[in-house]
Amino acid sequence: MIEVNDIHKSFDNSHILKGVTTSFQKGKTNLIIGQSGSGKTVFLKCLLGLFTPEEGTISYDGKIYTDLTDEQKRDLRQEMGMVFQGSALFDSMTVEGNVKFPLEMFTKQSKSEMQDRADFVLKRVNLVDAHHKYPSEISGGMQKRVAIARAIVMNPKYLFCDEPNSGLDPKTAIVIDNLIKEITEEYNITTVINTHDMNSVMEIGEKILFLKDGLKAWEGSNKEIFKTDNETVTDFVYSSDLFKKVRQMYIEERN
Ligand SMILES: Nc1ncnc2c1ncn2[C@@H]1O[C@H](COP(=O)(O)OP(=O)(O)OP(=O)(O)O)[C@@H](O)[C@H]1O
Ligand SMILES: [Mg+2]
Repeated sequence: MIEVNDIHKSFDNSHILKGVTTSFQKGKTNLIIGQSGSGKTVFLKCLLGLFTPEEGTISYDGKIYTDLTDEQKRDLRQEMGMVFQGSALFDSMTVEGNVKFPLEMFTKQSKSEMQDRADFVLKRVNLVDAHHKYPSEISGGMQKRVAIARAIVMNPKYLFCDEPNSGLDPKTAIVIDNLIKEITEEYNITTVINTHDMNSVMEIGEKILFLKDGLKAWEGSNKEIFKTDNETVTDFVYSSDLFKKVRQMYIEERN
């Protein structure tokens, strides 16, 4: 479980996160939504320890980040997996090389242990014939699978994904979303995902945090978000015609 308590983050004179408090449960897919520029990536980078909030605390299963020694911080970071916006694979490495990279960097495993672990995670994301291909030789959806395999290869307690399905067609996007949800449940990971995609919200939004102007504007589940009368939320969620129609159906059902 991750507990975020009143965090503030500024750059020069711009105050980006203005006191956000929330928590993310283990084994659940937690989503962050909000307009472009609302601070989702900055928030995720705070969770990753890449940015240090000027105020407030973040605790990971009870361990407050700023209270840890450098060594403890390093250990904690090794318990975090990350899928970056746009996959961020190493182009010059094969699929297998990309997946083994964290093991080579951070563990003392033998070659055969690394091979077994890479085989295992690649199989888990349903990639069995791509070990020796390069990122440029596989589809966008396959690249995301490789990025997920790499993010879970160290068996993380925490998984952070920044727009994991950007650039994918809607069907592939849902496959990737569901894969992340399954893995989260299977390995009891605390997963936090930034997304723009209302399909993701519907499919896997067990907990949703809506950021607006650096503040938490709303939080709740996917079941609740389509029923709320909070105008800030409805303005955002029903910005597309499709969802306006879904909303209308809800209202008619209710009356
Ligand atoms: N390293 C940085 N230095 C200065 N300003 C930054 C930095 N990183 C982000 N910002 C600013 O913080 C604000 C929030 O950016 P952020 O990338 O978190 O938005 P976002 O919600 O992830 O948007 P998107 O949906 O487009 O990815 C923006 O105004 C951005 O310019
Ligand atoms: Mg972003």
